[in-house]
Amino acid sequence: MTVRVLTGITTTGTPHLGNYVGAIRPAIVASREAGVESYFFLADYHALIKCDDPDRIERSRLEIAATWLAAGLDTQRVTFYRQSDVPEITELNWLLTCVTAKGQMNRAHAYKAAVDANGVNAEDPDAGITMGLYCYPILMAADILLFNAHRVPVGRDQVQHIEMARDVAQRFNHTFGKGRELFVLPQAEIEESVATLPGLDGRKMSKSYDNTVPLFDGGPKALKDAIARIVTDSRLPGEPKDPDSAHLVTIHDAFADAATREAFRADLRAGLGWGDAKQRVVKLIEYHVGPMRERYAQLVAHPEQIEEVLQAGAAKARAVATPFLTELRQAVGLRTMVAAPQAKAAKAQAVKADVPAFKQYREFDGQFYFKLTAADGTLLLQSQAFAEGREAGTWVKRFKTDGAAVLAEAPVSLAEGVARDMAEAALSALQAHEAELEASKAAKG
Ligand code: TRP
Repeated sequence: MTVRVLTGITTTGTPHLGNYVGAIRPAIVASREAGVESYFFLADYHALIKCDDPDRIERSRLEIAATWLAAGLDTQRVTFYRQSDVPEITELNWLLTCVTAKGQMNRAHAYKAAVDANGVNAEDPDAGITMGLYCYPILMAADILLFNAHRVPVGRDQVQHIEMARDVAQRFNHTFGKGRELFVLPQAEIEESVATLPGLDGRKMSKSYDNTVPLFDGGPKALKDAIARIVTDSRLPGEPKDPDSAHLVTIHDAFADAATREAFRADLRAGLGWGDAKQRVVKLIEYHVGPMRERYAQLVAHPEQIEEVLQAGAAKARAVATPFLTELRQAVGLRTMVAAPQAKAAKAQAVKADVPAFKQYREFDGQFYFKLTAADGTLLLQSQAFAEGREAGTWVKRFKTDGAAVLAEAPVSLAEGVARDMAEAALSALQAHEAELEASKAAKG
């Protein structure tokens, strides 16, 4: 069975080293696994909730897309798209909104935190809170459920949102599924081993702590400067160091193989100075990040290439989303009005196909004709030309009500190779069929 893995990246910032190690790299590695179908997207609608600076949104979309591509994302394998290029997401968002309990949204962490902050500041509880923030988890549920994702790799702060998505999915299935599981129930996935890279000060690397190491920004120099600022203890060169209490080592390890990790530890225990240790870390990270940075610069210089990749991704995503949304619209009752009559007409056609049929038509000579064909389409009778369509219609009507009896006086000829009794039999069958139709119409009133 294919496992569908989906995750969104909110496009508000510029990726730093912690984003790369904690999210981008593991996602790309996981996307190469056999039996996995990955959907990665730029959550630019979610970005609008957090940011009202259009230029920053634009810049961030470009940088994040370029980062993922530079980091080796294989867009042949993975469906990589922008949320805002898939209108089915916002359409599903509404369907889900209609089955989401308001009380549940009241309990969402991000919304509650905003209300609490207003309380602390003695503000109105709703001050500065948009409906976008309030309904944020529903849009996220739409992202996930539209593609029936099984697994959703996220940070710990997002786990509640995945649980809400499960809940909404369950309610929708129950209400509209008629015993069918319209939506897969998604599962949050937190990769404990790589979840967090420490920042300069040892706390989780995060923009909000202002302790980040840039990934590409500022080039090798910015990387070197940031690593130089990593906090260590005050042991001097020559003094033994404790590798297990140094977050410089954690950052080092994120880029090192087992042997390199061991060597680094041994050297620190043997007295390697922090300055030298940091130089090693810079070299190690640069070895991995340097080539990516070059690809990144090339991509950012050619946004049209990124645009093309994202458009292709959106087309791929919509090839899945469009038919599924049609099914969901059906399920909730948003159905096309012609579907039912069409089905009826098809049924009537099927019945008709079992009996002979008259067809009236006009030729290029401007004259009117009719003909009789057998159930299998064989031509039986052919009329002469009429100046008026009405005349042809009158004859057809008479044939339908009086059957073979009309044959003697009607201006028609037998088709080539057709015996008279064959035409008579067909006319009798048609007459009987018409009588039946009349009777059933009369019965319905
Ligand atoms: N809210 C997520 C975050 O801030 C981003 C996101 C949006 C997302 N839609 C998603 C993550 C769907 C996973 C699945 O990190």
